[in-house]
Order: sequence, then C-alpha cells, then structure tokens
Amino acid sequence: MSIDSRPPAPSPSPALFSTARRAPRAPARFAALATLLAIVAGCERPEPRAASSPAPSSAFVEAGGAFPDAWPFGADGSPVTAAGGMVATTDEYASRVGVDILARGGNAVDAAVATGLALAVVNPEAGNLGGGGFLMVRLADGSVHALDHREKAPIAATRDMYLDEDGNVTDRSVVGHLAAGVPGTVAGLWEAHQRFGSLEWADLVEPSIRLANGFEVTTRLVSTLEAAQQGIRAFPASARIFLPGNEVPQIGDTFSQPDLATVLARLRDQGPDDFYRGETAALIAAEMERGGGIITLEDLARYEAVWRDPVAFVYRGHTVHSMPPPSSGGVTMAAIANQVEHWDLAALGWNGPDAIHVMAEAFRRAYADRNEYLADPDVVEMPLAELTSREYAEARAATISMERATPSDQIRPGVEAFLDESHTTHYSVVDGDGNAVAVTTSVNSWYGSKVVVEGAGFFLNNTMDDFSAKPGTPNQFGLVQGERNAVASEKRMLSAMSPTIVEDPAGGLFLVSGTPGGATIITTVLQTIFNVVDHGMNVVQAVHAPRVHHQHLPDAIVFEHGGLPEATVRALEARGHAVRERERGPPDAYFTGGMSGDVQLIMVMPDGTLSGWSDPRRGGFAVGYPQ
Ligand code: DON
Repeated sequence: MSIDSRPPAPSPSPALFSTARRAPRAPARFAALATLLAIVAGCERPEPRAASSPAPSSAFVEAGGAFPDAWPFGADGSPVTAAGGMVATTDEYASRVGVDILARGGNAVDAAVATGLALAVVNPEAGNLGGGGFLMVRLADGSVHALDHREKAPIAATRDMYLDEDGNVTDRSVVGHLAAGVPGTVAGLWEAHQRFGSLEWADLVEPSIRLANGFEVTTRLVSTLEAAQQGIRAFPASARIFLPGNEVPQIGDTFSQPDLATVLARLRDQGPDDFYRGETAALIAAEMERGGGIITLEDLARYEAVWRDPVAFVYRGHTVHSMPPPSSGGVTMAAIANQVEHWDLAALGWNGPDAIHVMAEAFRRAYADRNEYLADPDVVEMPLAELTSREYAEARAATISMERATPSDQIRPGVEAFLDESHTTHYSVVDGDGNAVAVTTSVNSWYGSKVVVEGAGFFLNNTMDDFSAKPGTPNQFGLVQGERNAVASEKRMLSAMSPTIVEDPAGGLFLVSGTPGGATIITTVLQTIFNVVDHGMNVVQAVHAPRVHHQHLPDAIVFEHGGLPEATVRALEARGHAVRERERGPPDAYFTGGMSGDVQLIMVMPDGTLSGWSDPRRGGFAVGYPQ
C-alpha cells in the first residue's frame, strides 16, 4: 500500500503554514504541532510521504484574496491528494488505522468505525467509548443516512437535578458522576457497521486493541492532560491510568491502557452486548454506585442508536446534508444559509465588514431560534419545516439592516455569558467508490466528567451539561437555551455537532466536513462551506481561513486571535456590534484558546480525485489512499 500524506516536519512546513504568512508572534503551539508531527512520523508505521501535488491556485487567490497579516496560517499550502480514498482526523494513528482498513478492502463505514475506536484510545480527551455523537453517511448511490448515537439522560434524571437548594446552577452537570449521560458511541458504531459495513467487526476493533496495549505518547495527549490534570486528579481511578506516577506522561513514553484493551477485546468478541448488558455494563453501574451517579444497568440495556431523517437544504445550488435534532446543526445551518443567500457574499468581500455583518446577523437570528426551539425530537415538538423554509429565512433576512447591528435583546431578551473551550473530535472518510462518512463525537469537555470507569479504563462524558440545567442560564459554552431543552428522564440533550456532507450542483459528492467547538461548530462548518462555494477557496484555504462566530447571546461577534484586521473590527463596531477577539492563553500552551474549531475537510475535485486537509489549529492528519 502506498500512502500520500501531509509531510511530517521537524519545523513547520510550507504545507502546514505559509512561511510567508507565519505570524511574527508565532506561538509555541506551532512548535508543539511540529513536534507532534515529528513524533508521530517516528512511530511503527509506514513513513508518511510528502504531499505530491503542487499548491493549486484557487479562485480566492486569483481574485486577489489574502489572509490578514497577523494570521498564522497560509493560503498557499498543498492539500493532501489521493484517488482511492481519504481519512482526515485529529490524529495520525487514527487516520492510518482508517486508511489501513480501506487498503484491506473496507468501505468508508468500515474505515470510520475503526477510526472512531482508534480515536477512543489515542485521543481520550475527545475520542471515546463513554460519550456519544452523530454519524452521516452518503453512499455512492446518493442516498444519505443520519445516525444519532447521542447520549441520553438516565431514567432517574430530573429537571432540577443540577440546582442547589437556592435554585442556582451547580457544577454537577460538568464534573463527576452525575454529569454523565448514557453513552451512545458503542451502539452507534455497531449500528453503522451492521447496516453498511463490509469487513468483519472484529477486524475493525483489532487495531484499537493494539493501540490500547501501548502507543507512543503524542504532544496532543500531553497537552490535553496538562490542561485537564487538576480535574482528573480528583478521581483516583482516572489519575491512576492517565497520570501514571501522578504525572502527565512524557512525549515518547509508551502509554498503555490495559483495562481499555480488555474492554475492547470484549467488544471485538461480543459486540455491544458486553458494553450495554455484560461485564462492562456492570463496571459502569458499579462506578455509578460508588460515585453517586445515576446510570443503571437498565439505562444501559435500554440505550439505542437511532436513524433519523437528515436535514437537507440547497445553498447556491449545492445540496447540504447535515444532522437533524437532537443536533441543532442541520436546522441552524439551513436557517443561516437561507438568510445569507440573499446577499452575494463574495461581492461583499471575504473577511470584510459587510460579509461579516451579514453572517453575524444571520447567525444571531438562527441561534435565537435554535436556543429556544430545538431539543430532543422524541420529547418536544419543533417547528422544523418553518425554521428551515425559504419563506421564514426571507422574513428573517428582511429584518437585517446593512447599516446597523440588531441588538440581540430586540430578537429575544437575554443575559451575558462567556464562551469556553472544551473538546470533541470529528473525522471525515471517503472511499474509492465514493461512499462518504462524517462523524462528530464527544465526551463534551476535555476528558468529559473526568470520571474513568474503574476496571474499564475509559472516561465518561459530561454531556448532561448540554441540557439547560436552568432554562435561560448559560451552559459552559455560554449557550442560553430554553425550557424545551430542560433535563428530563431518558431525554437526549441538544447538540451543536454537525457532521456535514455537501453535493455539487450536479448532485455528486463534493465536501465532507465537520469540527468540534461547542456552540461554534455550526458557524465553523458553514463558514468552511462559504469559503469554498462563495469565495473559491481550496481545502487548505477553506480550513486555514480565520472564523467569526455569533450565537445570539452573548451579543457579540467573536473572532479568532489575529483573524480580523483592525479596520474591519472598527467598521463592525461603528455599526453597533460588540466585537471580541478570542484570548490567547499562556504562550507555551498547545491549545491557547485563541482559535476555534478543528475542521477535517475532504473535497472531491472535478476529475474525481480527493483533496483533503486537517485543521492545524489543534494539529490533525489527513491521509490519502493510494497515491
Ligand atoms: O454536542 C455539543 O454540542 C457539545 N457537547 C460539543 C462539545 C464540543 O464540541 C467541545 N469541543 N470543542
């Protein structure tokens, strides 16, 4: 098998960062990223080869488009290219597991399942067995399928379970045993394989068992553990595995997870029965009893992944397929895109005040509706047809003034809150037949609730925080959500996760995309699409381009550190927008907090070849097959 990959680099390579555009204040995170690439390149796998294609020109560059001077990522890198398939993830180990499955004749669903399980081992801050997610499949025949394997509230969950006696929100939805919803990942990956897989299940689980028996520690593992270690230390069973000797493991150490390897071996041999009804279920229930949690054997036995009707909408001739509730992604993206389509975004000028104003006003309106109306479709009624209709978007767009920002409290009353960083992961896969899979999966915050199931070696999520613990009060993403998304027994919490597949105007597969980022997921995925469709960017540019975000409340446009020229900020402020630059953390931090998203994007080129890119913001890896 030959592999075409992003080049590993001892120092940032032109393919990763345009040397011409590297920030004079290039933070230590880039050195860390380079180290990561160098480390993973040294693992016991085929040496990555340099991306073979020259940097393609793009309509964006030909039209004189350029990124801001202070922006660290370039517009001139070469994407990863391949003719027979591609896997783009946040981790080289995981991408290579997926490509190996393609090489063995597996299809995109087989590769996605194996990749997802590998991420549970090598990116435990986000990849998971103890969380949940959403999976979109577009088969080569054009049919599109959406699998909801979101966590559920336990049977014993109640509306006010996260409030103290004075009615104030506690941190119990974020940390500890009560924060965990009933995990859905194992059921989801199994269901996807049952319906669409072609290789044996055991063959898809085997690579992750090997990784759980030991892999060389990467910068990402070290950095995320450093960030989360304080929370993890509070749970001895978690610290024993993830802080061996009470320390964060060192880069280059071999990190082994024997308990997890045993759970994965049972998963290989027994399928999901073990996780939901067998020995692993018993370990989860025992952990809950020990820590005062409420997930029971009955909760686990009752969990089911659910096929849902995908949301589809047309944006400038391109059909976009994304997740329906309990994800808010598809509906909110449709509502935004239908409004934005009233303007010629390219003519307004990429990253200029007019284009950002239009996007922010559409974001604001769509998030106001999202936060109010969307929730678990099995529990609440939602005006989905209206929210995604062109007529509704027209009425909403008609209230946008090009001269003035509309204060969010004129759309709905609100409160101030802050965005925060936490973690999820996305992976995109395309096989040689043109089947495509996009999966976004999460334990919510980094390392979820920080609770590892004793004897099972995996973290449980803290996704209960995606409910409105107290309607009208912000959650950890600053999202102010309503009554419909209140906690209730066996309900699924609203998500922003948006695995998305886009068709070209002729109806062929065009883009496979997705990202983490909490509330910013929706606006990030959509801007990636705007970057390609409106601004003519190639995959590298579309992923590298700085992003903006607005979520109705707090009433502010948030932009990535260095992502907006000063003149644009001033012009937006002159229209009445509050404009906030994301703050960078300490200069030596890996994830400094100044950026949003971690997009994994694959594009089908006019000649049928694949062009892919993995976001350098947190350091991922796209691998093509074969060259
Ligand atoms: O489902 C959601 O919307 C959140 N639990 C996603 C969390 C997330 O993306 C955190 N990553 N940065």
